[in-house]
Amino acid sequence: MSGTGNILEDVDTDDCLLNYSYIFSLDILKDKVAFITGGGSGIGFRIAEILMRHGCQTIIASRSLERVQASAKKLMAATGLRCLPVSLDVRQPMTIVTAVEETLQKFGKIDILVNGAAGNFLCPANDLSFNAFKTVLEIDTIGTFNTSKILYQKWLKEHGGVIVNITATLHYRGQILQVHAGSAKAAIDAMTRHLAVEWGPDNIRINSLAPGPISGTEGFRKLGGLTKAMVDHEKLIPLQRVGTKLEIAHGVLYLVSPAASYVTGTSLIIDGGNWLTGVNNMPAMQALMQKSARL
Ligand code: COA
Ligand code: NAP
Repeated sequence: MSGTGNILEDVDTDDCLLNYSYIFSLDILKDKVAFITGGGSGIGFRIAEILMRHGCQTIIASRSLERVQASAKKLMAATGLRCLPVSLDVRQPMTIVTAVEETLQKFGKIDILVNGAAGNFLCPANDLSFNAFKTVLEIDTIGTFNTSKILYQKWLKEHGGVIVNITATLHYRGQILQVHAGSAKAAIDAMTRHLAVEWGPDNIRINSLAPGPISGTEGFRKLGGLTKAMVDHEKLIPLQRVGTKLEIAHGVLYLVSPAASYVTGTSLIIDGGNWLTGVNNMPAMQALMQKSARL
């Protein structure tokens, strides 16, 4: 037992946990239905698994049908619950409409939305093409708005529900090589507060969850997670380590559960204190950029 409690083991690949010890009541989400964008991989996959382990049926959505189909199989086998894989591009509203209509037809409702779909890479602002900046904003920020608005219109407005937007801490202090993703996530944090205010009277709670560096993910790999610079960086993190996908999934579980019934319009930071002490290590990041211009 460390000062932070037991650290439950995670699996680095997009596979279900080998062992799981319940912290929350195991039926805390019994009969709920969650729509998770980016649910076929990384953090989104683990979020789907943990919600399912607590009684929730899920819809996992991303561009690659093959990927979400393979993930849904694993999730259903591990939890015995239903998981519908759907293909959509959060930049294209009509693909979301089709996926949401299929979901409502098959599940009859949607209680929870997790906006996890995102795109990122390291790039100096000066080298970012106009289209590169726009693409990240379109996936992260506009994609989050598109999905939230469509779900609101098709279900949440009349029935209430919970939304969790997966953001980041990049913009809190201004991370180098991340103007595109930091700007996109900052706008999502603003959106969280605007929609919490506007949709609160419809019994909808909306919060952001900001992960720090999380092992076993594409984001971690793309942002230099497997380099010596990150090993050195870990010593600067107050809790002395990077986080796990499971720790993020437990944060989402809390936010969507009745334990957070009076929580809306806020950000839950799960980063071991990283953003308070993390430095902009310019030489290390530049070396990484030179080594792999396109990760
Ligand atoms: N560095 C700089 N620019 C890059 C880049 C990189 N590593 N990767 C892509 N771009 C640029 C492209 O050159 C293009 O700009 P251009 O038309 O001016 O040349 C623009 O970004 C869009 O790239 P494209 O590959 O057409 O976009 P896409 O929609 O197919 O892919 C990405 C979106 C680029 C974000 C892609 O990395 C992706 O699909 N990511 C999802 C997974 C991920 O990033 N996970 C981590 C989440 S934190
Ligand atoms: P990931 O596995 O690459 O997750 C991103 C997901 O988004 C993928 O499943 C991808 O699937 C989907 N996606 C991308 N573009 C899409 C689009 N246009 N439409 C629909 N789906 C799309 O990476 P991750 O690292 O686990 O990241 C998950 C979330 O955590 C992201 O919001 C990320 O910003 C956030 N985050 C991660 C870290 C970290 O350390 N990993 C830190 C802070 C924040 P397809 O390719 O099939 O579309």
